[in-house]
Amino acid sequence: MKVFSGIRPSGELHIGNYLGAIKQWVELQEKHECVFCIVDFHAIITAYKPEELQKNILELTIAYLAAGLDPEKCILFVQSEVKEHSELAWLLGTITPLGDLKRMIQFKEKSKKYPEHASAGLLNYPLLMAADILLYKADLVPVGKDQKQHIELTREIAKRFNKTFGDVFILPKALLPEAGQKIMSLQEPKKKMSKTDSPAGYIGIFDEPEKIKEKIMTAVTDSGKVVKYDLERKPGISNLLTIYSLFSGKTIKILEKKFNGKGYYEFKMGMALLLIESLEKFRKKRKELLAREVYLREILSRGKNRAQVIAQSTMREVKNKMGLI
Ligand code: TYM
Repeated sequence: MKVFSGIRPSGELHIGNYLGAIKQWVELQEKHECVFCIVDFHAIITAYKPEELQKNILELTIAYLAAGLDPEKCILFVQSEVKEHSELAWLLGTITPLGDLKRMIQFKEKSKKYPEHASAGLLNYPLLMAADILLYKADLVPVGKDQKQHIELTREIAKRFNKTFGDVFILPKALLPEAGQKIMSLQEPKKKMSKTDSPAGYIGIFDEPEKIKEKIMTAVTDSGKVVKYDLERKPGISNLLTIYSLFSGKTIKILEKKFNGKGYYEFKMGMALLLIESLEKFRKKRKELLAREVYLREILSRGKNRAQVIAQSTMREVKNKMGLI
């Protein structure tokens, strides 16, 4: 199987990104042909600081490696360095109805939240995402739940292309983790954990121990004292239980038993300790890698060369079918 996925280099990576996406990637690289991308063209669609973009790209490269991706086992590269991505996005736009782009939930939400950034780029965002995936003929796209609709659209676009011009593309499928596909904000447990939230709402994978403890202890919980999973009535505790379960490898049932009669404070203290311990190896690896910029650039350059060979070959097929060569 071929696997493709990516993350925007815009701010800190949080445990939602880790549990929803990267944790699966680390397992997939052992068995499949994997391509993982730093999608910088997607990061510049909403407000960003040009002077910080290169730093964010390197930080995300470090995060990929610290979380367990191995450049010997997968291809790691930066999207804007392989020009076929934007070229294919343009071509896919010519066969995609405007209505399909306008009905995307993320477009609707983001254009409402940031009307000043409701650009053509924001509307066309899923075309670039479709190009990312289709260029590498990926069968599987491991992502969190918020990206599922974009992958379904990618499938539709691939189908339409194959029908109109002849078979080139594989129809990809989203691969969502059973648990952890939508980690919620620590401050507003009915909203997704997000990089653009206030930092108290998320735990960065490189957060220092004191910060982790503070964020967990101040996480919004629900009235009552019983540590029990109940999405309707206890969204805050349910979210914390999900996170606890995924980092500890223990089922939610076992955790409910463990904290039976113990109350929220003890539960949160246990969870803070677990997260501090679980994220320690990431912090350590990051410290090591921060001093090795040349090594990081070398990985990205090798990744770019390998990605380019695949992308160019698909583009030749596409252009051939479309009468462009
Ligand atoms: P991005 O950068 O917003 O998020 C990266 C990955 O993290 C997942 N994720 C979450 N999972 C669980 N709980 C959460 N609270 C949470 N927040 C984020 C996302 O689902 C995603 O898997 N458009 C994409 C990037 C992209 C891409 C692609 C992905 C561009 N091209 C091609 C796959 C294939 C995005 O903005 O993800």
